[in-house]
Amino acid sequence: MTNVLAVDPRKPAREAIQRAADILHAGGLVGFPTETVYGLGANALDPIAVRKIFAAKERPAWDPAIVHVRDIATAHTLMRSNSARFEQLASRFWPGPLTLVVAKAAHVPDEVTAGRPTIALRMPWHPVAAALLNVTGLPVAAPSANRFGHPSPTCAAHVLHDLDDRVDLILDAGPTPLGVESTVLDLTQTPPAILRPGGISREQLDLILGPIQLTAPISDQAARQGIAGPGMTTKHYAPRAPVELFDNDRQLQARAAEFQRLGKRAGLLPHDPNIEHLAQTLFAQLRQLDADGVEVILCVLPPPEGLGLAVRDRLQRAAGQPPV
Ligand code: TXA
Ligand code: MG
Repeated sequence: MTNVLAVDPRKPAREAIQRAADILHAGGLVGFPTETVYGLGANALDPIAVRKIFAAKERPAWDPAIVHVRDIATAHTLMRSNSARFEQLASRFWPGPLTLVVAKAAHVPDEVTAGRPTIALRMPWHPVAAALLNVTGLPVAAPSANRFGHPSPTCAAHVLHDLDDRVDLILDAGPTPLGVESTVLDLTQTPPAILRPGGISREQLDLILGPIQLTAPISDQAARQGIAGPGMTTKHYAPRAPVELFDNDRQLQARAAEFQRLGKRAGLLPHDPNIEHLAQTLFAQLRQLDADGVEVILCVLPPPEGLGLAVRDRLQRAAGQPPV
């Protein structure tokens, strides 16, 4: 049975947070909101609890999870050694939607990192996530709380839809403010490389690091074999219906008219000039179109600036195309 507890996103009640913290201490799973998407959390230092995350999500064991920490000091305890780059970026962007990949400390279970020598760390700012991390005192491994390959969950109903009965408790604080996941930045490469564009923009990172590379996506096969960074596989975040991408509304409408002539039901995501709004509603729109039973989803890609880079990336993955 999955319990759902409503919490105030700005000032969550202590009792609700305590219940969630108790479940984490007992080796259970908690769905909780972050500023990006909902996470499926477990005690990162408990290998059996972490295995439950992978089982619940049906996530392959080769795809490592992000570990959420309450502060920079906790991050230090999970890292092999400190680096000036890490300090610089964490002090500038934490708490916030930036995940930093660094060499891991020896005691971090292989279950979390998929046997890799590195760990992905992030300190979220969402008041519910922050309160949970503070009250547990534990580092919390938490991938997005969706079935593997589904669009990420931006509200509690999405978590329940994908993971009902597979998660002990969901803290429901309403829709998540950003709607796309954190930026994953690999600090083990020189210069650092973006493994996944997200809530902190490339332009924000450029200001500190200079022009920064986006890592090319890789096949599931290569990720499984540990050839390159995981999680950058092309098919991901995918709704059931096939997705077709367009540069502008004119192209999208022309294609929509073709489908209409064929009597096929098309769902449309036309151009949205407000990129924050598009990011916030993207995954919910993809899920809704699937629920409506459309046969194809037609989307206009936003320009690759700011949050637009992350939105493009998710849409290109949803379409099964390598992001460009
Ligand atoms: O915004 C977010 O990042 C959300 C919230 C819940 O914090 N979490 C999230 O987790 O999106 P997940 O597991 O769905 O995506 C984590 C990404 C994956 O692409 C994974 O492969 C990558 O981070 N990752 C995790 N550990 C890594 C590591 N050691 N090296 C390289 N990539 C890693
Ligand atoms: Mg995910």
